[in-house]
Amino acid sequence: MKFNVKIKRYNPEIDAKPHFETYAVDAEPNDRVLDVLHIVKWQHDGTLTLRRSCAHGICGSDAMRINGRNALACKVLVKDCVVEGGTMQLEPLLGLPLIKDLTVDMEPFFKHYRSIQPFLVNGDPLPTDGRERLQSPEARERFDQGTKCILCAACTTSCPSFWANGEYVGPAAIVQAHRFIFDDRDQAAEERLAVLGDQFGAFRCRTAFNCTEACPREIPVTQLIGEVKQVLSSGRIE
Ligand code: SF4
Ligand code: F3S
Ligand code: FES
Repeated sequence: MKFNVKIKRYNPEIDAKPHFETYAVDAEPNDRVLDVLHIVKWQHDGTLTLRRSCAHGICGSDAMRINGRNALACKVLVKDCVVEGGTMQLEPLLGLPLIKDLTVDMEPFFKHYRSIQPFLVNGDPLPTDGRERLQSPEARERFDQGTKCILCAACTTSCPSFWANGEYVGPAAIVQAHRFIFDDRDQAAEERLAVLGDQFGAFRCRTAFNCTEACPREIPVTQLIGEVKQVLSSGRIE
């Protein structure tokens, strides 16, 4: 099918500000948006800059705004976002510094991620039988949703509270904190909750739900944030 793709372009070496450019492309309805970007890059303009790696919804590197909504370019089909003769619009994620074209600086996002200590903390001696720290299936299930996160930033960069103030730790970092706070092998919940309880922590969330709608892994982000708020309010991890 033939359609137009309108891409926000920005080259800091020559452009004063970002602008749209439109390309006429011919792609299959079942092609992904990432395939369309390859057509533009390989057939129209080799300078088009974007991030991608796995092309299968696993690495999280090609999150962008597709027709105004955050999604992974490698997961959205052409037929689901444009009609024959129509126009598909692609823009970089909002709320992070723009580097070039569809590429943003992820460092502020990862700074928030690191702030919640995204790793298991347990100072107890390892089991002497050489086995791992055992956990019941029920205890493992308690934090399962957060383990699906691929750190694509689609949630945080669709959040109005994050747009309003980039110091807000953001939904992705809260999801990651949830994954460890509710892990019964972990011992650093107090430190994580200190970060999440401060003025730029979980209570900056105004339950807008954009994050849940944007998550390509179908993680119930707003629900997990609610559970962390509940721990902060009650002082109990349940
Ligand atoms: Fe991406 Fe979902 Fe993880 Fe947010 S919670 S970073 S949207 S995978
Ligand atoms: Fe933002 Fe999601 Fe809360 S979009 S306001 S973190 S529910
Ligand atoms: Fe890896 Fe899309 S390229 S998630």
